[in-house]
Amino acid sequence: MSASGHSDGKGFCRKMTIKISGTGSALPEKRLTNKELEQMVDTSDAWIRERTGIQERHIAEGDSVVSLAAKACQRALADAGRTAEEVDLILLATCSAEMLLPCSAAQVQGELGAVNAVAFDINAACAGFLFALQTARAYITGGMYQNALVIGAEVLSKIVDWEDRGTCVLFGDGAGAVFVEKSEEEDRGILSMVQGSDGSRGGVLYCRTRPQETEDAFAGRDAFVHMNGGEVYKFAVRQVPDCIENALKKAGLTVADIDLFVLHQANVRIIEAIAKRLRAGMEHFPVNADRVGNTSSAAIPLLLDELRKSGKIQVGQRLVLSGFGAGLTYGACVMRW
Ligand code: ACO
Repeated sequence: MSASGHSDGKGFCRKMTIKISGTGSALPEKRLTNKELEQMVDTSDAWIRERTGIQERHIAEGDSVVSLAAKACQRALADAGRTAEEVDLILLATCSAEMLLPCSAAQVQGELGAVNAVAFDINAACAGFLFALQTARAYITGGMYQNALVIGAEVLSKIVDWEDRGTCVLFGDGAGAVFVEKSEEEDRGILSMVQGSDGSRGGVLYCRTRPQETEDAFAGRDAFVHMNGGEVYKFAVRQVPDCIENALKKAGLTVADIDLFVLHQANVRIIEAIAKRLRAGMEHFPVNADRVGNTSSAAIPLLLDELRKSGKIQVGQRLVLSGFGAGLTYGACVMRW
């Protein structure tokens, strides 16, 4: 179905868009299996597999958000055939930065030697990569920059309470990056994008930057991730299909036109429920949460890189990317590779 000339409703003509021309990723070496978790908290491999589909995750020992992000960027630049000096903009989505100042993106810029780039962080939790991609698109289509490195990188293992079985079994560490630039081809690149936030439900999933004594809407006082799993599940299963349908409508496409839905890898059960709501087969929903767990903002670029390198994404295919998480935040993007 051709929909050339459509606007995405926010002033961007489809002719002016961006495309991904390189991908890269990095995972810490250490793997933590469900069996090992059985020795740490009162859980079982069977419970974790059945409720989440996760079998193992990677845990950073010597690595940081910055070192993982820098490795992913070097691989994305090599894949795109570009050098660090050519990069105009570095956007790093993370919610687990080791430092408040300087921002992680600036540290990545330093490590890469990307001397001509402007760099800053974006925190929209598991929707962060999508929000960063949309920001890059706005800068590039607005004519301010020619290209960008868009990164999702997390070391969630440092903000997880390893005594809380309700959360520690879910998360993993890792980074993914894409190199994006202006697309000159009318029907190649990002075709539409939608984003949303609902700050009234922030208490469903949160983490402080430091322990706190005062009482407020966020009950836990420590600096670990707190989650109402049931509410997160309901939010994802209701909001994400709507968001994807809206993005498809803006692109003049339907679920049947899409080859692959690259979703935030919150957990496999959520992805299956979203697929069912969209009335699409699971063969269109690639999964790596079983091997890497939930890596928040890193999940989508990590999976994209895996799919590209294994030949599962081909030029011309239509993809939907969708992220959702703390905030609450959500976003979806339709693209033609
Ligand atoms: N091992 C064993 N038992 C556990 C574990 C565990 N790791 N965690 C919780 N339980 C227990 C609970 O204590 C509870 O016991 P009880 O009945 O005696 O009180 C029981 O299992 C059932 O707990 P529920 O929370 O009702 O389990 P549910 O079937 O809802 O599954 C889950 C929990 C998997 C977290 C589910 O709510 C979910 O998928 N939520 C989405 C959360 C998510 O993916 N978050 C990721 C971060 S947010 C994001 O990325 C968008």
